[in-house]
Amino acid sequence: MCGIMGFSGNLKNESSVGVVLNGLKSLEYRGYDSSGIAYYDNDDRLIKYIKKSGKLINLSNEFSCIAPLNSDVAIGHIRWATHGKPTDENAHPHIDCSGNIAIVHNGIIENYAALKNKLIKKGHRFTTETDSEVIAHLIEDYISAGKSFYEAVRLTSCELLGAFAVLALDAASRSIAAVKFGPPLVLAQKGDNLYVASDISPLIEYTNDVIFLKNSEIACFYDGKLDITTFKGKKVNKTITKIDWDASRAAKSGFSHFMQKEIFEQPARILDAFSSRVMFNEGTKDNVINLNKIKIKRAKKGFNENTQNSFNEAFAGLDISLEGLKLTKNDIVNSPKIVFIACGSSYYASLAIKYMMETICGLSVIVEYGSEFRYENFPISQNDIFVGISQSGETADTNSALEVAKAKRAKILSITNVPGSQITGLSNKGVIYTHAGPEVGVASTKAFTTQLLCGLLLALYVREKSGFMPGYQWLNPRNIFKNLVELPKKMEKILFMDETLKDIAKKYYKSSNFLYLGRGILYPIALEGALKLKEISYIHAEGYPAGEMKHGPIALVDENMPVLFLLSNNMLSTKTISNIEEVKARGGRVIAVADYEPEIDGLSDLIRIPETLEVLSPVLYTVPLQLFAYHIAALKGTDIDQPRNLAKSVTVE
Ligand code: F6R
Repeated sequence: MCGIMGFSGNLKNESSVGVVLNGLKSLEYRGYDSSGIAYYDNDDRLIKYIKKSGKLINLSNEFSCIAPLNSDVAIGHIRWATHGKPTDENAHPHIDCSGNIAIVHNGIIENYAALKNKLIKKGHRFTTETDSEVIAHLIEDYISAGKSFYEAVRLTSCELLGAFAVLALDAASRSIAAVKFGPPLVLAQKGDNLYVASDISPLIEYTNDVIFLKNSEIACFYDGKLDITTFKGKKVNKTITKIDWDASRAAKSGFSHFMQKEIFEQPARILDAFSSRVMFNEGTKDNVINLNKIKIKRAKKGFNENTQNSFNEAFAGLDISLEGLKLTKNDIVNSPKIVFIACGSSYYASLAIKYMMETICGLSVIVEYGSEFRYENFPISQNDIFVGISQSGETADTNSALEVAKAKRAKILSITNVPGSQITGLSNKGVIYTHAGPEVGVASTKAFTTQLLCGLLLALYVREKSGFMPGYQWLNPRNIFKNLVELPKKMEKILFMDETLKDIAKKYYKSSNFLYLGRGILYPIALEGALKLKEISYIHAEGYPAGEMKHGPIALVDENMPVLFLLSNNMLSTKTISNIEEVKARGGRVIAVADYEPEIDGLSDLIRIPETLEVLSPVLYTVPLQLFAYHIAALKGTDIDQPRNLAKSVTVE
């Protein structure tokens, strides 16, 4: 929700405004209803600003109309409105009465009304409906009382309640201050230049060495010198974190949309997620296969699937290393329950991971929406294991729910894509990074499939650590490993079907409603497929367990209702085929995604995908649904990367 970017320094070919504008482009996925930049004009020696409602392009157009700027300090903001409509006036930056202080803010100031009344009584003039404007006036108030800019920012920070990441620009000292309490802020210093942003994506263009501010910290940058203190004024020495993201991954690279590029990136990102974490080793050094950079030690001995012992022995050959995970055997065996907390697509990934954990480890798992969990009377014990799943690591609902569990001393671990994000700080039992790289398209794609993959790794890890036996002997580890290694290639095969999916999309893009149905582990994928379609094409779509259709949704079925079935060649296939027949009998049009050639007459469309193990199948079934939604949205001409009303990182409740 909202993105902020600041720069202070000196670049030969670019003004501070250019750097900030460029940074806001990378942050645009966080909000896009208005934007603005304040900068210090070196020639006129004062703060100037432009703010515009609508997309960032409106702001860039305004700046392109003015003469080249001579400015070395600027702060910018991209907004997703909470308090006050997305108008030019309400857009950030906000300026104090004197015009000497400009601020941008991400978050919510809960006590803004009381502060505003107090400041109005003291003579401050407010010009917007936002909660954020109080910050500029409060800093001004402290400066008028004789405080330095830094002290004014520090005392202001202590007075604010709520969640805030703030950048403040001071004309007198030409310095910027960055304040964090809640929403993320990342700094990068390169020589005399300081870059600060809501996340690492705008920074990796300049450097991979970053500093994550913690809550209640203030960074002040003046004349090439960076000082970081706590809100109490205590100096803090920060460590530099090296980020392994590649700047080119945040570019469209010839694709029409970021979402399309991110869909096509998935085979490589899946590989990144497991290649250095999984080995299968039965003690032989020969027969090393090099496939897609992965070294596989092929077992020489035959594998007997019929006895429990051989299952146990061979499972020992599957070696899972999840760097940074501190979950011990004791944690697992003493845990009464494993609870997954997530929102949106990450919630659907959790539902699929529940099947994986139950199948692979024989453990029962509970999945909860972050937004619901925190207000439930959910019994929490200190032995419970909570797993938060979040692409951004900044989702307020998910993180607040984890905080509730942490307050009861439960064990917390997380699966996230963003290093240094808030969820990582909450995870006392470690973090599994999805290694998906920057995801710019607002609708989650590669983040979702890598979450599934990391969930599978977690299940294998828990199985390996605990020795729990689910009793599914067909799920032998060599088979899991073999299928894992083949997964990227199988995904590629589905991506080669892009044109076919586009043709199918042409038949359906005028439909107003869709049903997506699946059973077992494919039910969460039906939910995810329906969500993708809703988000980017604005077509109403419902995901349902196929077996539930007869309990209600079947009433909707007629010739205008396309029903997309996820069909797998397993013991549930005949049941799903019966559901397909029921839809056909009522005139519904059936699209089936299947990993075999089902014997069904009168299917409108069949999308045939490669077969894999059931526990891995969600990863493959997701891809055609992404492509289908993408092509429907492209045919409808919607804003695919930035769908209306959405923001990628939802940092408010
Ligand atoms: C859907 C989507 C959202 C997010 C949800 C949680 O395409 O992107 O539903 O999945 O807002 O976000 P994270 O995973 O960042 O916690």
